[in-house]
Amino acid sequence: MRIVMTGATAGFGLYAAERLADAGASLTIGARHPAARPPALGGRVAVLPLDLDALANVRAFAAALGEGPIDALVLNAGLQLAKPATSADGFERTFAVNHLAHYLLLRLLAPRLAPGARVILTGSGTHDPAEKTPVTPPVHADADRLAYPGTDPTAESRTRQACFRAYSSSKLCNIMTAREAAKRLPGLSVMSFDPGYVPHTGLGRDNGPIIASLVSYILPLIMKRDRSSTIPRSGQFLADLALAPQYAACNGDYWSVRGPALLRLAPSDLARDDAACARLWDDSARLVDLA
Ligand SMILES: NC(=O)c1ccc[n+]([C@@H]2O[C@H](COP(=O)([O-])OP(=O)(O)OC[C@H]3O[C@@H](n4cnc5c(N)ncnc54)[C@H](OP(=O)(O)O)[C@@H]3O)[C@@H](O)[C@H]2O)c1
Repeated sequence: MRIVMTGATAGFGLYAAERLADAGASLTIGARHPAARPPALGGRVAVLPLDLDALANVRAFAAALGEGPIDALVLNAGLQLAKPATSADGFERTFAVNHLAHYLLLRLLAPRLAPGARVILTGSGTHDPAEKTPVTPPVHADADRLAYPGTDPTAESRTRQACFRAYSSSKLCNIMTAREAAKRLPGLSVMSFDPGYVPHTGLGRDNGPIIASLVSYILPLIMKRDRSSTIPRSGQFLADLALAPQYAACNGDYWSVRGPALLRLAPSDLARDDAACARLWDDSARLVDLA
């Protein structure tokens, strides 16, 4: 079982990677700092350099993986910014790292995915305005506007809200990409994953350690009980999506952690807009220079 994964060096992704290695998977992870591999993974995984901030790095990572079929692709890396920033390629950085880089990786590796291979994109409940999370929700998944917020008449002018919306929009794109990939790449088991709110990961690190830590303690107290999770719980579910038999035939499904359970739910209205999903796929292809 050969698995390729991003976002395996920290947070619940690291926990999932440990479980995948425990299960005997041949795991290759993309990491920003390959020399600083987490001790928990030790020599049990292959580590290749991958900073998703630049599309050239994604191409180099895909090439370095070499030939041979891949049985599961776990696209879990993600960031949330505190100040607006631009990627190496000139795109809004959250959109570039969370969506565009993963989209490109999926497209580059698609020919190497084994029949029935699983593709998992980590999304977030923040993609859904109906969830009423503390994160400013998305209003669209227009790739060009998300890539260049200066051209977006709906863009938030307030810094925190703009960063939040960039994040929730990128997670909406992950979920829509899973739905569209299930159509465009038949023969795979494609799904998106909402881990719930998982405190004590590195996601809030851009806010500084004090605020990040405070948020990790306070948010679970004010959120709906079943929307708060833990690193082991969400990490185990992510590993299960890659390995457990019950997820072998997913068709763009959205899996969400609710209390102790992982439920297949309908994502937001925006995420279920088939025409918008197709547009996002095609526009993303143009932005990453794929035909
Ligand atoms: N925590 C939550 O409440 C929550 C809720 C919903 C969804 N999510 C999603 O869950 C996923 C994992 O998040 P987490 O909470 O576990 O956060 P985390 O601890 O910060 O882990 C994020 C992972 O993504 C990697 N990453 C970030 N930027 C990268 C880049 N430019 N290139 C390559 N890798 C990069 C990190 O690598 P480094 O080790 O190099 O930093 C790390 O492995 C993310 O997609 C996040 O959006 C989290």
